[in-house]
Amino acid sequence: MKTGLLQDTTFLVTCAAGWEQRTRSELWHALDHPRFRQMILRGNLLMTCREDMDTAIARLAEVETETVGRIVPLQAACPVDQSMDAVSVIAEASDLLPGPDPEAGFKVLCSRRGHHEWRSRDVETAVGKRIESRLGALAEYKNPEQIVAVEIFQDVAYLGVAWADEILHKEITRMRKWAPGQRPLNRAELKLREIIERYDLALSEDARALDIGASPGGWSKVLSEHVAEVWAVDPGELDERVLSIPNVTHVRARAETLVDRDDTGVFDIVTNDMNMDPERSAQVLCDVAPLLKPGGTMVMTVKFMTRMRRRHSKEAQDILSRCYEGFEVGRVKHNAKEATIVGRRKATLDA
Ligand SMILES: C[S@@+](CC[C@H](N)C(=O)[O-])C[C@H]1O[C@@H](n2cnc3c(N)ncnc32)[C@H](O)[C@@H]1O
Repeated sequence: MKTGLLQDTTFLVTCAAGWEQRTRSELWHALDHPRFRQMILRGNLLMTCREDMDTAIARLAEVETETVGRIVPLQAACPVDQSMDAVSVIAEASDLLPGPDPEAGFKVLCSRRGHHEWRSRDVETAVGKRIESRLGALAEYKNPEQIVAVEIFQDVAYLGVAWADEILHKEITRMRKWAPGQRPLNRAELKLREIIERYDLALSEDARALDIGASPGGWSKVLSEHVAEVWAVDPGELDERVLSIPNVTHVRARAETLVDRDDTGVFDIVTNDMNMDPERSAQVLCDVAPLLKPGGTMVMTVKFMTRMRRRHSKEAQDILSRCYEGFEVGRVKHNAKEATIVGRRKATLDA
């Protein structure tokens, strides 16, 4: 192998060791004829596909898997040996990467498999320094926005640069033993459980929840465990397991039509996981704000439609701020390519 850019869109997929075949078939459906190569260490697959990087990441972020742990975009490779020389070879190979963007901070993360005279830390330092002097980008150790990944398999190093949330982390659930009836409906269910814990959402037993963009029902299922009543609004179908929950009502309609109804009553919390442009989605939340009691909780998923993540999040907040306040914004483990905004309904709404 020679140092160079990778020809195809390439990812390192880490999965549960021994479940590689299952991982292949889980990802086969997400992409157009992906190809896989087993790496020297079990649980590691090199995957190439025909899509461009952005399209592939968007599809991989959405796909539900049970055996995939991490998916790392890669763009270059170089041969390495056991000697200290390898560290500068890897640092030089980082010149080939199409980034990081000097406007945002970055961190180098090296994972080394095999026997070498050098440590991962040596590579991280050398690559970090080289990128700093080449691009003027700033290495950041806390909350870096970009990651330069160096994945080493004995005599080859793969390098990739990506926005932190383009490195996809999924939960390996295949081997987990769920108690009867405890298996989650989908990843969205895990996402809301994580949001409730992270933002310490107080959900009282007598509360009413409005869940817009509810299908197939992961969020409604979670909400139904905490509150008295859930309105699950979505033109799509609810999973039968959710339809059969007594305190969940499926309103098979678009959220925009709610304001024309006179039977909604007042809600204590509104959750919005609609797959919609963030500005439109925020506008729908403003439209339904009169149905939420003052001080009521609002949770919104911002679906990143482009790479302008900050802009999407800011534009959504600008619109939301007409009706909501006290925003907390973050990313949760279960929602790659998305951000979560939590806020409260304002005491009074502008006319
Ligand atoms: C990512 S899924 C939601 C997953 C859901 N939170 C769960 O836990 O299973 C997005 C949903 O938004 C719904 N959606 C899109 N536009 C909508 C609208 N205008 N009103 C209501 N739902 C909408 C889609 O039908 C889709 O089911």
